[in-house]
Amino acid sequence: MATPSLSEKFKELSDLKEKAKLGGGSEAIDKQHKGGKMTARERVDKLMDPGSFTEVDQFVVHRCYDFDMQKKKVLGDAVVTGYGTVNGRPVFVYAQDFTFVGGSLSEMHARKITKIQDMAMKAGAPCIGLNDSGGARIQEGINSLFGYGEIFYRNVMASGVIPQLIAIMGPCAGGAVYSPALADFIFMVRKTSYMFITGPKVVKAAIGEDVTFEALGGADSHAKLSGVAHFAVDSDEECLRQMRTLLSYLPSNNMDDPPIMESADPPDRMDEELNETVPLDPKKPYDVHDVIMRVFDRSSFFEVQALFAPNAVIGFARLSGRSVGVICNQPMVYAGCLDIDSSDKIARFVRTCDAFNIPVVTFVDVPGYLPGTKQEHGGVIRHGAKVIYAYSEASVPKLSVIMRKSYGGGYIAMSSRHLGADVVLAWPTAEIAVMGPDGAVEIIHRNELMKAKTPEETKEITNKLVAEYRNKFANPYIAAQMGYVDSVILPKETRPMLIKALETLVSKRDMQPRAPKRHGNIPA
Ligand code: HXC
Repeated sequence: MATPSLSEKFKELSDLKEKAKLGGGSEAIDKQHKGGKMTARERVDKLMDPGSFTEVDQFVVHRCYDFDMQKKKVLGDAVVTGYGTVNGRPVFVYAQDFTFVGGSLSEMHARKITKIQDMAMKAGAPCIGLNDSGGARIQEGINSLFGYGEIFYRNVMASGVIPQLIAIMGPCAGGAVYSPALADFIFMVRKTSYMFITGPKVVKAAIGEDVTFEALGGADSHAKLSGVAHFAVDSDEECLRQMRTLLSYLPSNNMDDPPIMESADPPDRMDEELNETVPLDPKKPYDVHDVIMRVFDRSSFFEVQALFAPNAVIGFARLSGRSVGVICNQPMVYAGCLDIDSSDKIARFVRTCDAFNIPVVTFVDVPGYLPGTKQEHGGVIRHGAKVIYAYSEASVPKLSVIMRKSYGGGYIAMSSRHLGADVVLAWPTAEIAVMGPDGAVEIIHRNELMKAKTPEETKEITNKLVAEYRNKFANPYIAAQMGYVDSVILPKETRPMLIKALETLVSKRDMQPRAPKRHGNIPA
């Protein structure tokens, strides 16, 4: 046989590359499109800055001979991997290709993913997974389990070192769910993605429950009910766009600072309407988003877990171009109480910000922890403890603004001076006390109230005592006298005050942990 010429060799290469691009073939690609999904390559192209993607391991194939699998091979083995840039900064990516054997994870498919995870760690750049897979490649048995184990291990090793973002853009079932669960952020696409440990058929067989894919593990179920998904979006395109936006708030790694953006919003801007946003009547709700919108750089708020535990609002925003994590109680829902879910939501977010050098700004209006057997038996004690743990442990700049209620354990937990807040501001409407006036009066004036002869008399005495208590304790000045609050300010002054504090704290040095240890033992 004649030795191939140089041009023949080059052609062979380009033919192979063209073949690799087809994945499972044009029929399977059509099926993917008809199902409302992009292919793995289309997703990668949409995610990355145009023309920036470099593919790695395009020629990898599986090495399974069972079930005649040697006859079923495509270049790349159902996952596209490589690196490129997003918003001009390096990122690593793997995108599972459902068009070949349902994007299932073989040993070699897993090796491609773990190689990208290792490269991302060495480069100190975010690692992004675009998951669309039927799970472990059944023909490969234990070798595919090996693959999952290796991926999970790297997810854990990379945790807190590089941002890990995973989008679920198709099936994600069984143990496969744990790689996303170990990442920092999960995106899910409505109608085309689902995540569950066991699917509807097994659920029916095991416990007789009838449930659809969507209700069991669709995007909205995980974004609203379980809190597993941080973002639920309507399409692949929206998902990839939002991933790019999220990355703009994050540093490339834990040794890096988040990028600083140009801000057209003046740092000394004062919003007169902010003075009127919080009603004087402590029982009247308001939407804390109105506060957020008026304080942070215009249009910079990017909400995280918007649908889960809405009694707390969290997300990223910018102050004079600098990334911050925003955490607020939301008086519109359960009066802004802390409960099991909102505690988990807040604590995880504080840790995410702390891991990635993002200062935390907390807006407080919290009457306390939600009472009742459901909460107690669900473990509100251990979940609530996570908030205290996370704030205490965080060494990034911590700024707090007490807007209205700040009672008891809620006061301490929500980034109080006692947990190491660097700057604590309060508005004149702040009520900082051990408990709310109604509860306090019932306890400390029990004997006096028992003397009342009629319900009307009880009400009259109660109102008088509540008013007295409110005047004496439900204000910011006792905390300010003690130095627990640094300044009482007008609401409209909040933006300039926070920016000044943030710029002063840029060089904050606070070594954690205070004593050598393997790691703390956060309540779980
Ligand atoms: C091998 C698989 C596969 C898998 C799908 N395929 N999943 N091949 N291993 N896990 C193949 C199908 O045989 C089919 O091949 C092609 O991919 C497309 O699949 P369809 O079934 O035609 O697609 P669709 O109707 O969209 O259904 C998708 C699906 C279904 C719901 C994901 O394929 C499915 O139920 N797959 C099995 C899921 C599963 O049980 N996985 C193992 C979980 S255990 P052809 O040749 O016909 O095109 C697990 C353990 C992980 O993952 C543990 C980690 C610790």
